[in-house]
Amino acid sequence: MKLRNAAIIAAFLSVTVASSAVEAGDAAKGKRVYAKCKACHTIKKGGKNKLGPNLYGIIGRKAAGVEGFKYSNAMKNAGIAWTPDNLDKYLTKPKKFIPKNRMAFPGLRKKQQRDDVIAFMATFHE
Ligand code: HEC
Repeated sequence: MKLRNAAIIAAFLSVTVASSAVEAGDAAKGKRVYAKCKACHTIKKGGKNKLGPNLYGIIGRKAAGVEGFKYSNAMKNAGIAWTPDNLDKYLTKPKKFIPKNRMAFPGLRKKQQRDDVIAFMATFHE
């Protein structure tokens, strides 16, 4: 019985932790942060790939998931899904989280900015 409760609590925690960036973020403010990404990414459904891939539906998608975009081997081999938590780590320092990936962006140092931009991206979803 105890064990079962522990498993339920663990499952609950992982869900809350995973969605914390989305909940802590402000999508309206994130739109302004997203201005930094716009030069290289579109986010609307069916948007074209620019220097970077289209980011529609990015939350929960596997890394390197846009067909027809030429990803680096580093991104192709990352083997992760873009949970809010992984996005947070990537956007802190892209080259540290996925060494040799090709995104020429230094990262967002402020946690609030990362939460906001993740909340903004989460609104572009089915
Ligand atoms: C200078 C251009 C550039 C800027 C600015 C930029 N990116 Fe990127 N981004 C890229 C490139 C190129 C890739 C593909 C990297 C690879 O294949 O190694 C990428 C990949 C990504 C991915 C992984 C996509 C996937 O399909 O797996 C995410 C998420 C992402 N960028 C988010 C952002 C966000 C959010 C910002 C703004 C805070 C941003 N990027 C700013 C160029 C850019």
